[in-house]
Amino acid sequence: MKKLWFIAALLIIGALSSCRQLTIVEENVIRNKAVNSNNIVMNEEGSKIYIANIDVHTVTIYDVKTNAVEAEIEVGKEPRQLTLSPDENVLYVSCMTDNRVDVISINKQKVVDSFETGLGPYGLVTSQDGKWLYVANYRSSTISIINTENGETEKEIEVDDRPRTIAITADGSKLYVPHYLNANISVIDTKSEKVEKVIELHDSPDQSDPKKSQGIANTLEQFVISPDGKTAWVPHLLTNIDTPIHFEETVFPAISVIDLRTDEELVEERKELFEEINVTDTKNETIIVSNPYDLVFSPDGSKVFCVMSGSEDLVIFDLNRGGNATQIMRRINGDNPRGIVISPDGKTLYVHNAMSHDLAVIDTGGNSSYARAKQKGENISLISEDPLTPLERFGKTLFYSANSDEFAIDITGNNWMSCASCHSDGELNGLTLKTPKGPRNVPSNVVTTETGLFMWDGSRDDFTDYILTVQGEMGGMTSLNPEEPLPEDVQYMYDAMFAFLQNPNSFPPPPSPYRQKNGKLTKTALEGKELFEGKGNCLVCHGGSMFTDSVKAVDENGNLTTDNTNFLHDIGTTNPLDQASDGDARAKYTNPRNVNQFDTPTLRGVWATAPYFHDGSAKTIEEAIERHQYEGSPRLTKEEITKIAEYVRSIQ
Ligand code: HEC
Ligand code: HEC
Repeated sequence: MKKLWFIAALLIIGALSSCRQLTIVEENVIRNKAVNSNNIVMNEEGSKIYIANIDVHTVTIYDVKTNAVEAEIEVGKEPRQLTLSPDENVLYVSCMTDNRVDVISINKQKVVDSFETGLGPYGLVTSQDGKWLYVANYRSSTISIINTENGETEKEIEVDDRPRTIAITADGSKLYVPHYLNANISVIDTKSEKVEKVIELHDSPDQSDPKKSQGIANTLEQFVISPDGKTAWVPHLLTNIDTPIHFEETVFPAISVIDLRTDEELVEERKELFEEINVTDTKNETIIVSNPYDLVFSPDGSKVFCVMSGSEDLVIFDLNRGGNATQIMRRINGDNPRGIVISPDGKTLYVHNAMSHDLAVIDTGGNSSYARAKQKGENISLISEDPLTPLERFGKTLFYSANSDEFAIDITGNNWMSCASCHSDGELNGLTLKTPKGPRNVPSNVVTTETGLFMWDGSRDDFTDYILTVQGEMGGMTSLNPEEPLPEDVQYMYDAMFAFLQNPNSFPPPPSPYRQKNGKLTKTALEGKELFEGKGNCLVCHGGSMFTDSVKAVDENGNLTTDNTNFLHDIGTTNPLDQASDGDARAKYTNPRNVNQFDTPTLRGVWATAPYFHDGSAKTIEEAIERHQYEGSPRLTKEEITKIAEYVRSIQ
C-alpha cells in the first residue's frame, strides 16, 4: 500500500512539473568549463554558494536570492575544499584530518556517503562527466582517482611533495596540481593517468635593492584557469633568503601566470609588488599587500580579482590595461579572506572570510576599465557556533593576519607579513632565513608549546615574549622597549596566540605516510625503533612523549627556564655563520648562548619538516642521523641508519 502511495505521489509531482530537476533518472551531464577546487564554490546559475568552514567542520549553503543561509551541514574534520558534480546534484568535501571525502546530496542537504582517501585530502575535482573524483592527498603526496558511483579508489598516482589544490581544463584532458612548498606544478593527463610534465615556478632574481620583490616561490594556494583557457594564474609568496630577516625585505606577494598551451610559466608576466602590483596611497606610496590566496576572473576574462588573506585586501587587475593592478580595495570587511567567487553577470563578488566565518559582498562596479569595486552592506554570518574560545579565535586571527591597522600593536610591519608567511599554514615553508644569530631553518609550529624551550638554541622559555619574536625573527619593528613589561592590550594579543597554539587541534602532528595503511609501524621501522632505543642511544636526548629532553630545562619550581642550559647539546652541527648571543633582554641577559649548543628538537611529525638542523643543512633524516657527532656517539652502519630513519619517519 505504502509503495503505491509513493508511486502515485511521484506521478503527481511529475505531471505538475516540467522541471528538469525532478527527472528521476538523471541524464549524464558533461561539463565544458574549467574548474578549480576551492573553499567556496558557486553553482552555474549563481543562485547558491557553498562554503567549507575549515575549523568549524561544517559546510554552509547560502542562497543568493533570499540572501540567507539555507543550511549548515556537519561534515568530517577540517573541511578544506569542495567541488560540485557536473550535474550539480552532489557536493564533495575534502575532510583533511579525517582522511576522507564527504558526499553531500544537494537535495537532501546532508552527507549521504563518505569516500576513503589518502592522508590529508585537500584539493578535489571531478572529471567533466562526473564519473571520477580526483583528490590531492597533501600528506601522502598522491592523487586518488575515485569512482563516484561506488566510492572505490581505482588508482592512486604518486606525485611530488605536498600536492594541494587541483584544477581541470575545460575539455577534461588535463589536471594541474600545484605543490605547496616547492613551487612545482604537476600536469596530469587524465587519459593515461600519468604525470606528463612538471612546471617549475621560477625564482624571482635578486635585486640590488632588498626592498624589491625577489626570492623563492612558495605556498602555491590556487590554480585558476582563465575563461578562454589559455592561461592560469597562481597566487603565492616569494621568500628572500639572501638578506637578514626584515619586514620589508623577506616575504613578497606574487601571482604567476602559466601558459596552458605550452605548460610553461610566462616569466615576464609574474605580478609582483612595485611592478605590476603598484597602486599608491594618498601619500603616493605603494600600498603593501600580503598573502595572496585566491582569485577569480570576470566572466568576460577582462579582469582578475585577487584576495590578500593577510592584509585583507582585494586587488584588481585589468587585462585590458596591460594586466597590471588598477585598484586595491583596502580592508575587506571580516577577517582572513581566503576564497572568492563572482556572479555570472560579473557584477557581484562574494568573499569567504575564514577567521570571522562570514561572507563579504562586493560590487565590482562592472566591466569598464574605470569601474571601482565597493563593499555592499553587512557581512553574512556562515556558522551558528564557533568551536574555539573567543581568546583562541583572536589568537588564530592574529596568526593569519598581516593587517597593520586592526590591533593594539602593529606586529606585521605595515602589512608586510603574518606568522603564516613563514609558518605556512602553521607549519613551515622549508626555507632557512638569515638572522642575527646565523642561518635559521623555519621550524614547524606543530606541538610547539609542548616541546620545552623555544627556538633552535632554546633561548626563549615564555612564548608570550612575543615582542622578541617580532623584533628578532620578524624584522625588528615596534617602539616598545623589550626590557619593560608589555602594555596590557599587547600582552593580551600574545596570550591569545599562545592559547591558539596550545589548543591540541590547532596543529596536530601530521599522520605519517610511512606507516602501514592500518597505522602500524612497518617491519623495518620496528627494527629501527629497537636501534633508536638501544644501540643508537637516541633516547638520551630524544626521549619522552615529545621526543625531546628540552622539557626538563626547568627551575626549582618546575617552570621552564632559559637559565637551565643542562639540556642544550653540542652534536657538532655548528655553522660557520653562527654567532654567539648575549641572551634576551626580557630575560635580563642571563641566558647567553654559544655557537655550539642547541636545543633537542622534537621528532614528532619530523618526516614532514625537511630540511633538518637549525641551519637547514641536512636534507634527509639519514643525513641528520649520520651527522650527530658528540663524545661517545655510537658508530652506526648504513643499514642501521636506514632502519632508524624509517622509524623516525613514522613518529607522529
Ligand atoms: C620571517 C619569517 C617568520 C615569521 C613571519 C614568523 N616566524 Fe616564527 N620563526 C621563524 C624562524 C626562522 C624561527 C626560528 C628562530 C630561531 O630559532 O632562532 C621561528 C621560531 C618560532 C617559534 C619557536 C618554535 C620552536 O619550537 O622552537 C614559534 C613558536 C614561532 N616561531 C611562532 C611564530 C608566530 C606566532 C609568529 C607570528 C607572530 C611567527 N612565528 C612569525 C620565522 C618566522
Ligand atoms: C646528545 C643529544 C642527542 C642525541 C643522543 C641524539 N640527538 Fe638528535 N638532535 C640533537 C640536537 C641538539 C639536534 C639539533 C641540532 C641542530 O639543530 O643543529 C638534533 C637533531 C636531530 C634531528 C633533526 C631534527 C630537526 O627537526 O631538524 C633528527 C632527525 C635527530 N636528531 C635524530 C636523532 C636520532 C635518530 C638519534 C639516535 C641515533 C639522535 N638524534 C640522537 C640531540 C641529540
